[in-house]
Amino acid sequence: MKLKLISCTMLFAASLAVHAGHVMDVNTKKIGAPVSPTMYGIFFEDINFAADGGLYGELVKNRSFEFPQSFMGWHVFGNVALKDDGPFERCPHYVVLSDPGHRERRTGLQNEGFFGIGVEKDKQYRFSVWAKAPKGKSQIRVQLIDQNTMEERQQFVEQKLDITSADWQKYEIVLKSTRTNAKAQLRIFLSNDNPVALEHISLFPVDTYKGRVNGMRRDLAEALQDMHPGVFRFPGGCIVEGTTLDTRYQWKNTIGPVENRPLNRNRWEDTFDYRYFADYYQSYGLGFFEFFQLCEDIGAEPLPVLSVGLACQFQNKLDAHAQMDELQPFIDDCLDLIEFANGDPATSKWAKIRAEMGHPAPFNMKYIGVGNEQWDTPYFERLKPFVTAIRAKYPNIKIIGTSGPDSEGKMFEKGWEAMKAQKADLVDEHFYRPEAWFLATPEAKKKYGNCGAMRYDSYDRKGPKVFAGEYACHGKGKKWNHYETSLYEAAFMTGIERNADIVEMATYAPLFAHVDGWQWRPDMIWYDNLRLFKSVSYYVQQMYAMNKGTNVLKLTMKDPADAKGKKSQPVAGLDGQDGLFASSVFDKTTGEIIVKVVNTNKQAQDITLNLQGMTGAPVATTLTLNHNGSMDDENTLDTPTKITPVAGSVKCEAAKKAVVLNDQLPAMSFRLYRIKK
Ligand code: AHR
Repeated sequence: MKLKLISCTMLFAASLAVHAGHVMDVNTKKIGAPVSPTMYGIFFEDINFAADGGLYGELVKNRSFEFPQSFMGWHVFGNVALKDDGPFERCPHYVVLSDPGHRERRTGLQNEGFFGIGVEKDKQYRFSVWAKAPKGKSQIRVQLIDQNTMEERQQFVEQKLDITSADWQKYEIVLKSTRTNAKAQLRIFLSNDNPVALEHISLFPVDTYKGRVNGMRRDLAEALQDMHPGVFRFPGGCIVEGTTLDTRYQWKNTIGPVENRPLNRNRWEDTFDYRYFADYYQSYGLGFFEFFQLCEDIGAEPLPVLSVGLACQFQNKLDAHAQMDELQPFIDDCLDLIEFANGDPATSKWAKIRAEMGHPAPFNMKYIGVGNEQWDTPYFERLKPFVTAIRAKYPNIKIIGTSGPDSEGKMFEKGWEAMKAQKADLVDEHFYRPEAWFLATPEAKKKYGNCGAMRYDSYDRKGPKVFAGEYACHGKGKKWNHYETSLYEAAFMTGIERNADIVEMATYAPLFAHVDGWQWRPDMIWYDNLRLFKSVSYYVQQMYAMNKGTNVLKLTMKDPADAKGKKSQPVAGLDGQDGLFASSVFDKTTGEIIVKVVNTNKQAQDITLNLQGMTGAPVATTLTLNHNGSMDDENTLDTPTKITPVAGSVKCEAAKKAVVLNDQLPAMSFRLYRIKK
């Protein structure tokens, strides 16, 4: 009897340290599987005007007159002739501006940019053009104009440029904007009797990412850098495949001087006729060299994905694809790319181009994806010779295959089986699914099968690793960015983290969207010509990426259905867990325990973190993502910081062989804790 009393007292004392709420046990002593440094990354695709009109700083649309309708994006006036024997053989078009025939008439042209040209007061813009004046010195006037102003003059910047040579030469001037205007235009007048030929008419902000001449839009690239991504997948997506094979993404067309990179029809030009953009082309100014360089700048592993010889399978019949005996050029594209990225300029033709472009050192590419969202026999049989060729020449490169567009079902299973059989290193899975999938509700489990945060718990540990290469929660009937779906992404990601032994990387998709030019939403970062906002999903990704730790720690909660209290289970919104999701990692580099808890319940929840094996009473620093009152809320261009993570702290208590942290999680919130061991 006495003994019983003592043990009851001890139990009571121990429970004093914890609230009655949800007790999560974290075993801090047993360091689990490593979390891959590539775990949380970025998926880049030129959709929603992500490249031209987005990340690529070029402000002039159709700068080389290569669009099929040569003057798309331009208004020409007076005596303007289009020619096609210019100095760049893969972009042969140019214009000749000649005397309009009367002294009161004008010759010139005007570019509308991408939904306008965004310029800021006092900032500098580099105008450049290839030009010649075959009949003697000529001159143009270069203006930034406001087409819609009621003022006396439309131009708010003007500079003259003499064209002095009869041969093609590059000319450059820097314009300083006297105002901020998100929808300015570029106007060029011929201001001389002598004709002038103009090619590759370009305008860039001087202030680009890392100050690179004619580089990337600074704010957008910095937003990527600030995410601290572990991996950067490029160039897509469906764009890798093309609507037709000839419009697939061809990396070899994207390197070398920008003036000679041939135009490509963007696959997203007309995919959805309800969001139709007839002027969506790829200048390839943002090409593979630039992508590799960006990866280096932001510290992400480059992950290029190339065509397997299949055009988009949704949109084509079998005869549209490269046949089995036509695959060699596609295989060569993969092998040559590895050389381009990693080869020695002294011995490799492709590496030499890399060096000539300014990067003699290798980019250290480790991964290659072959095929995007491809399925069934046409894919499996084509992939084989790629795998054989890459393995033979570059055995250390990790090959990523795909399980197709579905996240479950017959084709998905078949895809995984085939990837296992071909010994792919990773399998690229895509899931754009509704709330129920991310929460793994009973209905969703019935409909989809394996979904939600427990998805990877049952994966075969002996096969390829997982690359969750495209995913986002698409609200049912609300397929746009809003807080609630981002929160469910956070909940789902606890499952990725818990299963870091099988999931090597995960990238939300798509990345970018221009508010005037999008085809697909939700997206991670939105912008107009001057501003951007980071969505709540961005902050979820960033919170994970910046707190990914180095190793998984086991985190469990007692199964409330087990009367003896012996059974523990992961915290994944299971019965009796009241909508809580959680995962935990250790960071060897800082000695910190990091715990992420997501409360998907509409009520606040008391939680206790029982950090077994720790001593002391440290203070945990916290970062919380909480809504602003409405589940439909989202940041906007006008209120870009409405919903951002908020820092705080919680005092822990010392307990027997443990540190205990009691907290109350606000309804529908995501909080992470960092506790120094
Ligand atoms: O992310 C948008 C598209 O979704 C990608 O291009 C494609 O891979 C997927 O279907």
